[in-house]
Amino acid sequence: SDNKATNITFHAGNVTREERAQFLKQQGLTIWFTGLSASGKSTVAVALEQHLLHLGVAAYRLDGDNIRFGLNKNLGFSEADRNENIRRIGEVAKLFADSCQIALTSFISPYKADRQQARELHEKEGLKFIEVYIDAPLEVVEKRDPKGLYKKARAGEIKDFTGISAPYEAPEKPEIHIRTDENSVEDSVRIITEYLQKEECYI
Ligand code: PPS
Repeated sequence: SDNKATNITFHAGNVTREERAQFLKQQGLTIWFTGLSASGKSTVAVALEQHLLHLGVAAYRLDGDNIRFGLNKNLGFSEADRNENIRRIGEVAKLFADSCQIALTSFISPYKADRQQARELHEKEGLKFIEVYIDAPLEVVEKRDPKGLYKKARAGEIKDFTGISAPYEAPEKPEIHIRTDENSVEDSVRIITEYLQKEECYI
């Protein structure tokens, strides 16, 4: 084990995951968005969260606002820091899923191995992990450039910028692949909720 602490033991609760799901009438899982900056990850996650809540399904978004300003405020954008960012987010998402909620994570998560680690963390505990590739070509996201970051990255003012001077490893077999330059936000929400229905993710 790579635990730093020794002499620690698990303490099980009195409620199994199955019982919790019955009481709450809901199954937990994680919907993991990945894609370039400005690809539309957060926009789709925000709309999906609202849609699920309106259906009465407890869903909660993890994104830069509540993670990079809080839990992960000590991390930057080096490869090692992104690895740690995604490792912690994978662990937190797993806790939400274990609590029978739907965790929606919207982070670039550029490294395949990090996403795979988050997936394994879920799947080894019997929790569904749905990877959603929010795909838009670099030319398109660079034209959108809502925060002017691509321009700064091209000018060398931001180093290690994903897609420009740092890698983005696209998923090969995501559960869902959405081109946001060809689909509206409503289309994207429909594509994801149809998948959830088909996979019987709601109780
Ligand atoms: S990662 O790679 O998953 O750890 O990144 P993430 O936590 O999603 O943070 C990405 C947002 O941070 C801003 N930003 C950068 N992105 C990429 N590379 C560099 N160097 C960088 N510096 C700051 C950027 O606004 C990303 O926002 P989104 O929402 O993805 O557009």
